[in-house]
Amino acid sequence: MNNGSTTTNLSFVTRFFHWLIALAIIGMLIFGFLLDDFKEYSGLHKSIGAIIFVVATCRILWRIKEGWPTPVNMGVPQWNLTLAKVTHWILILLTVLLPLSGMCMSVAAGRGLNVFGAEIFASNIVDGKAVALNPSLAGFANDMHETLPVVLIIMLVLHIVGALYHHVVLKDRTLSRMMGH
Ligand code: HEM
Ligand code: HEM
Repeated sequence: MNNGSTTTNLSFVTRFFHWLIALAIIGMLIFGFLLDDFKEYSGLHKSIGAIIFVVATCRILWRIKEGWPTPVNMGVPQWNLTLAKVTHWILILLTVLLPLSGMCMSVAAGRGLNVFGAEIFASNIVDGKAVALNPSLAGFANDMHETLPVVLIIMLVLHIVGALYHHVVLKDRTLSRMMGH
């Protein structure tokens, strides 16, 4: 099936989604860790995160429709291809699980979900304080929202080292193809 991506080229949609979401996710990762010191920006973190959830879902639907790109370099050992595949799966799932855990945490903790002023879920304020709708879900989602960023960092290191290894050592088109060159 010719769907825009070939062994030598990736479709514009694939490249566009990859770099848009890569930038947004890395930005949000840093933003998240800085939140402790900048609590007043928590609303902005949540609003951007909710938008990322929608865009990342569209990207996954595109992936399902197009299938995964065929690796440029099939000459590497099988474990190498498998590691890349597993890393891609985990990364793409994290692009929805990270914002999903954030949204669950907020809604279950009774803080609601407000995206740039639009109320998606109402908060549950009693006597001026947010009261959890589901404390155990809020706790679980909170744990997830603290653990998944660590998994993301580990996977990203593997992913970026892999991309650079292809580019610098193997000198194949893996990275250039994602850059559109
Ligand atoms: C500086 C950062 C990054 C670099 C240099 C980079 C590089 C690449 C390259 C070269 C490929 C093509 C691999 C192939 O053809 O087999 C790729 C694919 C992929 N990357 Fe990244 N990447 C970066 C950040 C990210 C981030 C932050 C995510 C998600 C959290 C991500 C998720 C993916 C996924 C899921 C694929 C598989 C193809 C696709 O679905 O678009 N990448 N990346
Ligand atoms: C794109 C996805 C997102 C990423 C990469 C991300 C990342 C992070 C990170 C790294 C932290 C710091 C965790 C820590 O201190 O250990 C954080 C905190 C937080 N995030 Fe996100 N986040 C995302 C989306 C969201 C969304 C959609 C919401 C809510 C609607 C949200 C709500 C929060 C809140 C409330 C905190 C502070 C948590 C606390 O102090 O316990 N995040 N985020």
